Amino acid sequence: MKSNPVKTDDHQEESSFGLYIHWPFCVSKCPYCDFNSHVRETVDEALWEKALLKDLAFMGQLTYSSEQNRVLTSVFFGGGTPSLMPPRIVEKLLSALEKYWRVSPSLEITLEANPNSVEVARLKAFKQAGVNRLSLGIQSLHKQALSFLGRKHSVDEAVQALEAARKIFERFSFDLIYARSGQTLQDWEGELTRALALAGDHLSLYQLTIEPGTAFYTAHQRGDWRIPEEELAADLYQLTQEKMSASGRPCYEVSNYARPGQECRHNLVYWRYQDYAAIGPGAHGRLTVDGKTLATRAHKAPETWLKAVESHNGLAEKIPLTPEETFSEALLMGLRLREGVSWHRLESLNSLQTHRLKSSDALQSLIEEGLMVTTGTHLIVTEAGLLKLNALIRYLLKAL
Ligand SMILES: C[S@@+](CC[C@H](N)C(=O)[O-])C[C@H]1O[C@@H](n2cnc3c(N)ncnc32)[C@H](O)[C@@H]1O
Ligand code: SF4
Repeated sequence: MKSNPVKTDDHQEESSFGLYIHWPFCVSKCPYCDFNSHVRETVDEALWEKALLKDLAFMGQLTYSSEQNRVLTSVFFGGGTPSLMPPRIVEKLLSALEKYWRVSPSLEITLEANPNSVEVARLKAFKQAGVNRLSLGIQSLHKQALSFLGRKHSVDEAVQALEAARKIFERFSFDLIYARSGQTLQDWEGELTRALALAGDHLSLYQLTIEPGTAFYTAHQRGDWRIPEEELAADLYQLTQEKMSASGRPCYEVSNYARPGQECRHNLVYWRYQDYAAIGPGAHGRLTVDGKTLATRAHKAPETWLKAVESHNGLAEKIPLTPEETFSEALLMGLRLREGVSWHRLESLNSLQTHRLKSSDALQSLIEEGLMVTTGTHLIVTEAGLLKLNALIRYLLKAL
């Protein structure tokens, strides 16, 4: 098997703790997107500043009282379009962190940005506010594709945004969506070559998925166009893996590629199933409180969330997960990583299920087929296995 595992250190893994902050507004709704994003004519910034600070304080108390040893290692401003946030709000939130947690001296602070010129003009202010990693939603470097994806920026704006990002931030990444309707291997090879010439140390490359409830879902159902068949999608993925490895930025998660050491630490928190607090509309968190994993979910609609925070806090629910649920979640997330899922982590969540998995015929057969391998520390999906990851995980879980 050709694999590029991320170097792991169990102690380091266990001490990571992330904070996710959701900004739910966008200039327009992209037809493929099912993220919690909303278009509003005006946003009362003072009200949002107050509410986010209040919910941060609530989250601080919730996590402080239970686990006093937490060290915050990453913050991620996601959306929606957080580059539409006034930098002042970003700065205020970041300045408040030390009231609630011990903060790692190497805290990673990522902000998602759209490459529209107005937002690009604010990049310096975000850096001054404390952001030290930028993730730009470029999506494509082809004019027609940007129009198909309903994006509001041009290829030139995308390139200018990347140039600005490179000048201002030591760490930056961008997202592209491939396996689009009508895209050939040759098209993608050309686009990815151009992208690599503009790239920093990290790229997120997503195959287009058709999400229920989106405008693309309706168009796809109607048969207006088709996404590539399974075989072409697999070839596109293979090409991506090879080109990214050759560029020195191997895959470290199904859709994420980085030079070793430049992986997004915040996303590693999710995939390694470590704790993260989440604030803002619709945000989901996972928190260990008194030895139990709590799944938190905030109210989704921006106005409902605002009202809830004004009267108490933004959470719609806070549910303790069973050991079976945490085991499945950790497996589901961890197998996306090239380093695999840590046996030690699975054991700590549910030793009975871990033992069952280790001795199951299902796992044995996947190993014999070359779809998975197990080392002393990790269970890993091979490159061949990654192509059918979801089916493989379903098969494993069903066998337990
Ligand atoms: C929260 S969104 C991006 C935020 C930012 N507002 C933007 O548009 O650049 C995160 C990323 O998910 C990816 N994404 C969203 N919906 C997708 C879909 N249906 N298929 C593939 N990738 C998708 C896009 O690449 C997007 O940049
Ligand atoms: S892709 Fe980004 S800009 Fe488009 S609707 Fe989703 S969150 Fe908003």
